Amino acid sequence: MIEVKNLHKAFDGDEVLKGISSRFEKGKTNLIIGRSGSGKTVLLKSILGLYDVDSGEIWYNDLNFTETNERDRKKLRQEIGMVFQGGALFDSISVEENVRFPLDMFTTMTYGEKQNRVEFCLDHVNIEKKAFKLNPSEISGGMQKRVAIARAIALNPKYLFCDEPNSGLDPETATVIDKLIQSLTKEFQMTTIINTHDMNSVIEIGESVLFISNGEKEWVGTKNEILNSENKKLNDFIFANKLYAQLKKGEK
Ligand SMILES: Nc1ncnc2c1ncn2[C@@H]1O[C@H](COP(=O)(O)OP(=O)(O)O)[C@@H](O)[C@H]1O
Ligand SMILES: [Mg+2]
Repeated sequence: MIEVKNLHKAFDGDEVLKGISSRFEKGKTNLIIGRSGSGKTVLLKSILGLYDVDSGEIWYNDLNFTETNERDRKKLRQEIGMVFQGGALFDSISVEENVRFPLDMFTTMTYGEKQNRVEFCLDHVNIEKKAFKLNPSEISGGMQKRVAIARAIALNPKYLFCDEPNSGLDPETATVIDKLIQSLTKEFQMTTIINTHDMNSVIEIGESVLFISNGEKEWVGTKNEILNSENKKLNDFIFANKLYAQLKKGEK
C-alpha cells in the first residue's frame, strides 16, 4: 500500500501539485488519469522520490518516505519496478541483457541464478526464447513494452510504477499490455500505480481510478462507477471521446 497526504509541489513558484491525498492498494491496478499537463508524471515522480515535494507525506506501508534517510531510500528503491514512457530499453544490448541489467546492478546472484530469473521474467511476459538474443530495435513495439515490464519485475518488486505504459501502441496491443500489468500485479501482489490518459485502460483495468485536474484530486472511484459520475470535469474528460459519450447515452 502507498498513501500520499496533502502533497504540494511547485516549480519556480508554479504550483503543479495542489494538495493531493490518495491511497493506492496492494494487489490492485491503481490508475491516475487526467489530461496532458494535469500533473500525473510529477505526482508519480514525487512518490518515487525523483522530485522532492514542498510539503505533504508519502507512505510506503508503514515507512514515511518523506522522512527517511538516503540509506533507507536506496533500499526501498530496489523494491520498486518502473516502466517509463517509451520503454527506455538499452538499444545496444540484447533483450535478455536488458532484463539482466538490474540483477547485475543490485544482486550478488550467480550467473546461472540470474539466467534463471531472466528466463522466468521473460516467460511471464510471453517473450519466446528465440527473441532473447535480439536487440530491442529488432522486435515490435508491443514486445519492447513487454521486455520493459520483464525488466521492471526482475528484482521481484513490491511496487510497480508505469507512466503511460501503452503509449504509441495500437488499441489491441495496448489492451494486451494493460492486462499483462494487471495479471502480474495480482500474481505478485504488487502495489501498482499506472498513469494514463487512455479511457480504454480505465475501462479494462481501472480497479481504482484517481482523476486529477490541474494538480488537484477531482474524483476517485472504480471503472464501474466512472461512466455514471456526476463530476463535471471528469465527464468532460471522459466524454471528449465520442464512443464513451454514446455509451453514456445508451446509444448503439
Ligand atoms: N521539471 C519540471 N520543471 C518545471 N515544470 C515542470 C516540470 N515537470 C513538469 N512540469 C510542469 O508540470 C505540469 C504537469 O506536468 P506533468 O506531470 O508532466 O503532466 P502529465 O503527466 O499529467 O501530462 C506541466 O505544466 C509541466 O509543464
Ligand atoms: Mg505524463
